Amino acid sequence: MGQKTVDELVRAEEGLVSRSIFVDEEIFQQELKQIFSRAWLFVGHESLVPKPDDYFVSRMGTESVILTRDRQGQIQVMLNSCAHRGMKLCRYDHGNNRTFTCPYHGWSFSTDGKLVERPGELVGVPGHATHYKGELDKKQWGLKTVAQVVNYKGAIWATWDPNAPPFLDYIGNMRLYLDAALDHRNGSPGGSEVIGGVQKWRVKCNWKFAPENFIGDLYHDISHRSVDIVGIGPGGGKGRRDASATRSAICFPELGHGLLGRLPFYEEGPYAPQYGRYPEVEAYYREIHEQRERTLGSAMRVQTSVGTIFPNMSFHGRQPRTLAVFHPISSTEMEMWRMYLVDKDAPEAVKDAARHYFLRYSGPGGMTESDDMENWTGATEASMGAMSRELFFNYQMGVGHREDVPEIPGCAVNGEYTEENARIYYRRWAQFMNGLSWDQLMAGAVRLEEAA
Ligand code: FES
Ligand code: FE
Repeated sequence: MGQKTVDELVRAEEGLVSRSIFVDEEIFQQELKQIFSRAWLFVGHESLVPKPDDYFVSRMGTESVILTRDRQGQIQVMLNSCAHRGMKLCRYDHGNNRTFTCPYHGWSFSTDGKLVERPGELVGVPGHATHYKGELDKKQWGLKTVAQVVNYKGAIWATWDPNAPPFLDYIGNMRLYLDAALDHRNGSPGGSEVIGGVQKWRVKCNWKFAPENFIGDLYHDISHRSVDIVGIGPGGGKGRRDASATRSAICFPELGHGLLGRLPFYEEGPYAPQYGRYPEVEAYYREIHEQRERTLGSAMRVQTSVGTIFPNMSFHGRQPRTLAVFHPISSTEMEMWRMYLVDKDAPEAVKDAARHYFLRYSGPGGMTESDDMENWTGATEASMGAMSRELFFNYQMGVGHREDVPEIPGCAVNGEYTEENARIYYRRWAQFMNGLSWDQLMAGAVRLEEAA
């Protein structure tokens, strides 16, 4: 890590973060070990593998992993690398397969509970009796599986670390806001699904720029001025998104997660029309709004616009809902994935309107996201030089103005325009990079039971 310690590179309380953590390859390799091998990572959505034996090839850090649903309906996540000589087993993006056969020497691995005791077990070895004289212990040479995997309201999360705390402890009360993205109808049957496949594209920037942006950088709205003028909102009107009342930059200082949103316990008020050009869509969202008014307790009255779960997953928590993940490729390149969530049982017109909006808004061809990508690539490129990487980025907006939110233990706010959330994100980054134990990492975190 060069001459500097982590604490010299990230002086979060002062609002100073070294540019080198966005461009240095040695620091990048440390991130893979200290963060991506330990933290809970988002790997996909259950609707990508609806049937037994469906698989979807995902990533955890720089590792390729297979996300699959076994015959028992359980979600499994395994390293997409043959145990023999490491060949990438599965080279399709998704499909349906119970047994994965390696193209190099033909070893095969299965998730079929009838054949194997654990998913990813080695079941077939060409020449096992002859070349190996029957002596190779197949039980020892299965695929590496993740230490823990969780299906939380359809979103699949995994960690390589057996000692990581339970996922719900890891996200703490950020759960309230994640729920607004994953389950906006609060458990009503039907659930959500990803529509239109997963958009994937590479961006020549450091991976941290994106989650930092999503954690509550309202200040950069000037970047999107042109889009606001032409108007690509959900209903085709002006602005990028629906009208939103004053939000706060809400963060979870001990956990490193954060968002732009409105606090719970507010009165939602009357439905604000935004789909004027699409009466059927308007009627659908109006009904959901009114149903929420009738049935939900105040605790679920949270609204989220954008948020980030540390380290590399972000989401839009209001209509339209999206999930994003930023995979590290190198210190100066990431692969960005976007998934678009709709209610599974929504009418086609609603799904169609959402799909069109996503295409206008997001992805490499989207009018808004391309603005952000330009900023992130420009900042990365301009920080690569021997001189520029020695400088610090400025995150000093709102230093010293954080306030606790008594209604939500573990939660704090700092107005609408602030860099508080970025500071808590990089503080968390430094804690992981310093190799703190899970006991230390979770020491100040509020447990769910205390928060109840
Ligand atoms: Fe897979 Fe040899 S690398 S069988
Ligand atoms: Fe933006």
